[in-house]
Amino acid sequence: MTEITTVTQSITPESDTDNVVIRPALASDVRAIKDLVDPFARDAVMLPKTLSELYESVRDFMVIEVAGEIAGMGALHVMWEDLAEIRTLAVHPDYQGKGYGKRVTERLMEEAQRLELGRVFALTYQEKFFKSLGFRVVDKKLLPKKIWGDCIHCKKFPMCDEIAVVYDFRPYPEGPIGPPPELPQVIDLKRLVPGLGEKKG
Ligand SMILES: CC(C)(COP(=O)(O)OP(=O)(O)OC[C@H]1O[C@@H](n2cnc3c(N)ncnc32)[C@H](O)[C@@H]1OP(=O)(O)O)[C@@H](O)C(=O)NCCC(=O)NCCS
Repeated sequence: MTEITTVTQSITPESDTDNVVIRPALASDVRAIKDLVDPFARDAVMLPKTLSELYESVRDFMVIEVAGEIAGMGALHVMWEDLAEIRTLAVHPDYQGKGYGKRVTERLMEEAQRLELGRVFALTYQEKFFKSLGFRVVDKKLLPKKIWGDCIHCKKFPMCDEIAVVYDFRPYPEGPIGPPPELPQVIDLKRLVPGLGEKKG
């Protein structure tokens, strides 16, 4: 843990006197992040994540470190020129209700502003939590189609009962959130790899 503290001091963690640090995740935090995600994923309140997915997205994450232990985390995943999703947000049950979820989400929102994004959304069961941070509920159908690619890993798929919440940093007209629906939102492999799937000879 000494080594982690040394590294994080150079990336300006937010710290306070009660031994809590909110800082960007390190690759060495990923196993602790997975240990936090797994029970929530088993209960279908979060999507499951493989170690490989977590390592690949580690730069999206902020972690909450309490007395040297990872007590929670959240990720900001950029999806479009002005849009990001808050995902994989959780606080260990022993630490819930202490304001840590709010603080890590606020750090992710600061990061969204630093990136000059215009809006941030989440798919969640935690309507009151997100409303307390200024998010509003929107129709799920307005979200980019791309996000449903992740949902096939959810136990509840296709019977999703999560709600969509969004926070706008600047005014937006009503309508689809993110890329215009007419743009391709998934990778067209056949276009990228001509001849893919065609019989040879
Ligand atoms: C959602 C979660 C991250 C909140 O973290 P937390 O540290 O317990 O929340 P906080 O203590 O920061 O609470 C912030 C505010 O939200 C409210 N809140 C938090 N959880 C709430 C709940 N389940 N129901 C109602 N209000 C809630 C708090 O009362 C507080 O309001 P206030 O600022 O007006 O006092 C945590 O409950 C969790 O890990 N849940 C399981 C995983 C999950 O559902 N993740 C969300 C995926 S998008």
